[in-house]
Amino acid sequence: MVVRRFSVKQVVEKTGLEESEVRFYETTFREFLSFTRLEPDHNEFNEDQIDILIRIKDLIQKRGFAVDEVKRELKSLLKKGGEKSAPARPESYARVIAVTSGKGGVGKTTLVVNLAVALARKRKKVAIFDADLGLANVHILMGVKPQFNLSHLIQDGFALEDVIATGPLGIQILSGGQGIRELANLREEERRTLLRQLDKLERTVEYLLVDTGAGISENVLRFASFADEIIVITTPNVVAAADAYSIIKILLSMEPNAKIGLVTNEVGNMYHSKNVFNRINTTTEKYLDYSLGDLGYIESDEYVRAANQLRKPLLLSFPDSSAALSIKRITETILNDKVFINMRKESSFQDLMGAVRRTMAGAGV
Ligand SMILES: Nc1ncnc2c1ncn2[C@@H]1O[C@H](COP(=O)(O)OP(=O)(O)O)[C@@H](O)[C@H]1O
Ligand SMILES: [Mg+2]
Repeated sequence: MVVRRFSVKQVVEKTGLEESEVRFYETTFREFLSFTRLEPDHNEFNEDQIDILIRIKDLIQKRGFAVDEVKRELKSLLKKGGEKSAPARPESYARVIAVTSGKGGVGKTTLVVNLAVALARKRKKVAIFDADLGLANVHILMGVKPQFNLSHLIQDGFALEDVIATGPLGIQILSGGQGIRELANLREEERRTLLRQLDKLERTVEYLLVDTGAGISENVLRFASFADEIIVITTPNVVAAADAYSIIKILLSMEPNAKIGLVTNEVGNMYHSKNVFNRINTTTEKYLDYSLGDLGYIESDEYVRAANQLRKPLLLSFPDSSAALSIKRITETILNDKVFINMRKESSFQDLMGAVRRTMAGAGV
């Protein structure tokens, strides 16, 4: 069997890690990557090792694990993998879907709120994390008044359960709220508290939808890359489409394995939507070598604004409006379309166990 080898530069491309981080993980998690016997010069990596690096990156950067916690997690995976009857899957995590955009005011919150309703209608347990720290208005469109928000969680030590508000159909809402420092400015322990609480939220629901806010900011990008899948939403507006491309480009540079799908909003009809989708997708294919998932479109529909005025989600206030039907179609696509589902996450644990076992066996651990 030919084992493919990758240079450090290729590893950087595949994992989205910086070279210094690769080196750091390499040293810190040596026993799981086991370079010692397999590769004396450490300058080549195989696919198993890359899988492990990606998993370590997820645990540290997305879940806020400390080094010893990562080691414990990797060890327990290895142990479970050794027992034939043990379940191959980890504790169940929600499917985390972030909705983002380049330009503001293109329909993120409308989509998040109604997607949540559509999923809850299908008896899924759904939570929304309103991470638009500038213009947090999920609760307004949902018609709820949360007493607490993220700042109580991060800065005042409140428990997740106390900060969560419950909206229609039992949808859980974690409100971003104002007055929160940029994530980049959070102290290390605050950032870890946040990641831990999000991790906890992920374990209590099946779907976690994140409304990220618009544009290229540290917060938006971090919250988007926290997700398994990212929906970029745009209108046909030329500036909005160009900004959508820019954000896709940056997201892919941060996370080369990201699953990104596009929704076109406020379009006239399907042909119009395909036109907008093709324009953006052709550009990403040409310049970024990446094909976007086509998640569908939402027509321009006066009932959207009417529902917002009523503070009742469109799917509940005007369920038969054309925009409501569009969002139901998008929901079906998200539930069924394998193209959009992050295959890496679904299979990563099984792959990873094999990978860890193979390298440890190779190292004689
Ligand atoms: N399909 C649509 N048809 C008509 N108006 C829409 C549509 N989608 C969004 N809007 C309106 O556009 C504005 C911005 O929508 P919103 O969901 O708040 O965007 P964002 O969260 O991206 O800022 C709102 O007034 C909303 O009612
Ligand atoms: Mg919004």
